[in-house]
Amino acid sequence: MYKIVRKQELAENVDEFVIEAPDIARKAKPGQFVIVRISRKGERIPLTIAEKDPEEGTITLMVQRVGKTTFHLSCFEEGHVIPDVVGPLGKPTHIEKWGHVVCVGGGLGLAPIHHIAQGVKEAGNRITTVMGFRSKDLIFWEDKMKAISDRVIVTTNDGSYGMKGLVTDGIQKLIDEGEKIDMVITAGPVPMMKAVAGLTKKYNIPTVASLNPIMVDGTGMCGACRVTVGGEIKFACVDGPEFDAHRVDFDELMNRLRMFKSLEGEALKEFQK
Ligand code: FES
Repeated sequence: MYKIVRKQELAENVDEFVIEAPDIARKAKPGQFVIVRISRKGERIPLTIAEKDPEEGTITLMVQRVGKTTFHLSCFEEGHVIPDVVGPLGKPTHIEKWGHVVCVGGGLGLAPIHHIAQGVKEAGNRITTVMGFRSKDLIFWEDKMKAISDRVIVTTNDGSYGMKGLVTDGIQKLIDEGEKIDMVITAGPVPMMKAVAGLTKKYNIPTVASLNPIMVDGTGMCGACRVTVGGEIKFACVDGPEFDAHRVDFDELMNRLRMFKSLEGEALKEFQK
C-alpha cells in the first residue's frame, strides 16, 4: 500500500502526488517510471518519476486527467492509499558529461525532464531548459526547472507568457544565438517530440526522446508498448523509454496511441455518470 502524503493541483487537469514508496525512492534513477494500479481490477498506467526523496522515502508523480483511471486517481486525497505502485521500471537515462544539454519538455513531459535534468546537472553539464505550454495558466514547475537549469526558456502557443511559439522556436532561438548544443533530451506530446527531432536532425544535434506509449505489464511480456526505432521493434518498457529521437517512427507511435481513444472515451463517460 502506497500512501499519498501530499497532493496538489499544478494546473488545469494536472495533479502532483507525493507518494510514500521508500524502496522505489531509494532505487529510482532519472528516466525511470512506475506502473500504478488504483484498484484490484483496474487498468495499469505508467507514470514517470518526476522527483524522488530517498530520505523522506517518497516519489513524486504527475498525473494528467485524460481518461477514466486518471480522473479516478484525481479523486484520491492526502492520506488515501494506492494499492499498487510497481517500479522503478525502464532503463535509466544514459548520462555523460556532454557539455551543453538542452532539456525540452512540453506539458506533462516536464515530469521526466525534471528528473533527467537533475541527473544531467549532477554529471557536470550546463543545462538550458525549454519548456512549452499552450498558455500561461497551464504552466507549472518553472521554479523547479530554474533551480536546476542555467537558463530557462518558457514558450506558450498563444504568447500569454514567455516566448510566443513552440518549443522548437525556443531551440531555434538558441541555435540562432550561436549556442553550441551537445545534446537534446525531450519529452512531451508525440507531435512535439517529432518536431524537435526534425529540427535537431537538420543541425546534427544528438537527441534522445522519452517515449510515452500505452503500457500494460511494464515488463516486456505483453507487447503493448512496442515502438519502431531504426526499423527495429523495441519495447519501450524494457528497451526504453528513451531512444535516439532521429530513429523513432513517431507516426506509428501516434497511430498506436490513437487506437484505444474511443474505448477510453466510453469508459470515461461511464465513470463520470
Ligand atoms: Fe508490455 Fe512493455 S508494457 S511489453
